[in-house]
Amino acid sequence: MFQMIDHPLIADELTRLRDPLCPSPEFRQRVRRIASLMVAAVTVDLATEVVECNTPLEITSGGKLTRGIILVPVLRAGLAFLDGFLDLMPQAAVAHIGLARNEKTLLPESYYMKHPPVLAEKDIIILDPMLATGGSAIEAVRSLREAGARSLRFACMVAAPEGVAALSDAFPELPIFAAALDRCLNERGYILPGLGDAGDRMFGTGI
Ligand code: PRP
Ligand code: URA
Repeated sequence: MFQMIDHPLIADELTRLRDPLCPSPEFRQRVRRIASLMVAAVTVDLATEVVECNTPLEITSGGKLTRGIILVPVLRAGLAFLDGFLDLMPQAAVAHIGLARNEKTLLPESYYMKHPPVLAEKDIIILDPMLATGGSAIEAVRSLREAGARSLRFACMVAAPEGVAALSDAFPELPIFAAALDRCLNERGYILPGLGDAGDRMFGTGI
């Protein structure tokens, strides 16, 4: 299930950060803001229960999230994206997955994973700004499922149609959210028009 999150503020942020002259500090800030602007749509169907609560004047009832949430940034570029989610969901636990795409094969190579011991009863949101071939997202979902995750969703900023198709084929039930669906991949697996290498732009490690 693929859902585009279309909003004028997201469109404006994205247009500014695509610009190659957007420096790293500004790039990180804009990614963080886009993430925050996506939170409501990505979490709109989380389960709540009715609980009794006090106001200064009387007792009333309110909603409370039923299940714990785990945010999973895919390193490195998922980190600034994570910050925007954490700004609005500070109570969430954070699991980290380290994946680096091999530049020749375009396959993800896993180098790190740390998550809470029990994943089964949690709502898990995988965060990566870029969905290109889909290899990294598929590996992230696969490894979390192997570790016991049941309720998973994937949020990205810029998606390529090839990546959406590959991830949907691999996990037809997985909700996938994106702020932009770009045109295609180039021969090196980069999204067009895209924004270049998100990790390098975020952390100033590019040429
Ligand atoms: C980027 C991006 C995704 C992945 C997407 O990370 O953040 O994780 O590529 O490409 P895919 O859909 O073809 O797998 P990269 O591997 O460059 O690592 P980095 O964040 O450390 O730069
Ligand atoms: N990873 C990125 O950071 N950018 C792309 O366009 C593709 C993969």
